[in-house]
Amino acid sequence: MLEFLIEAGDQEGITDRQLADMLIFLLVAGYDTSKNVITYTMRIMLDHPDIYARCSEDWEYTGKVIEEALRMFTPASTFRATREDIVHRGVLIPKDTTLFFLLNVAGGISADIDNPHSFDPDRPVDGRPRYVGFGLGKHMCLGQYIVRAQLQEGFHLIARHMRNPRADGEPGWRPFPGNWGIQGLPIVFEPTEIPPAA
Ligand code: HEM
Repeated sequence: MLEFLIEAGDQEGITDRQLADMLIFLLVAGYDTSKNVITYTMRIMLDHPDIYARCSEDWEYTGKVIEEALRMFTPASTFRATREDIVHRGVLIPKDTTLFFLLNVAGGISADIDNPHSFDPDRPVDGRPRYVGFGLGKHMCLGQYIVRAQLQEGFHLIARHMRNPRADGEPGWRPFPGNWGIQGLPIVFEPTEIPPAA
């Protein structure tokens, strides 16, 4: 991919600085985020061993587990600057104010979800995700479909390889905001050999 980007950059006149910025963004947006969701999902699974055990056998179900984890947690927070005065519900937000959107809160306490604080991969869905962890509008996450697939695939594989995980210490947390999440999740588990695919 790097070679492709460098080649495309040469053809389209993209500067080295622009290319470097693009790669930094891709690594932060495309790697750090997914890693944090996987760690968060594992943290939740320590309290739900039955759900975790099912992830090792059931790829479809793993997708539901990931979707529910994304509802309860997102590593991303978005910022916007107002370009003019805005009145929202009677509150004046002056021009040039930086607004900070807590996307995590929206999924975790949404009023139109039953028992929003419980982790329930089988909760009914009507085709519309009940969270905004990938943002909204024209800057909505470009990677959201690939990352759902990656997380489903990756977590299924993790569950097949790492049986019976248990906590082995307290997790640490990164400072909020930024690319937020757990920093270090000590666990013990039983490694399992998986025969290579035929
Ligand atoms: C769980 C993983 C991820 C989460 C929670 C996430 C979240 C977000 C959010 C909230 C935004 C909107 C930012 C804003 O409005 O200011 C965004 C934008 C973006 N994301 Fe993701 N992201 C994830 C994974 C990825 C991956 C894997 C890629 C690329 C392979 C990616 C590429 C992008 C890009 C390019 C944008 C900018 C879109 C634009 O400005 O038009 N993201 N992401």
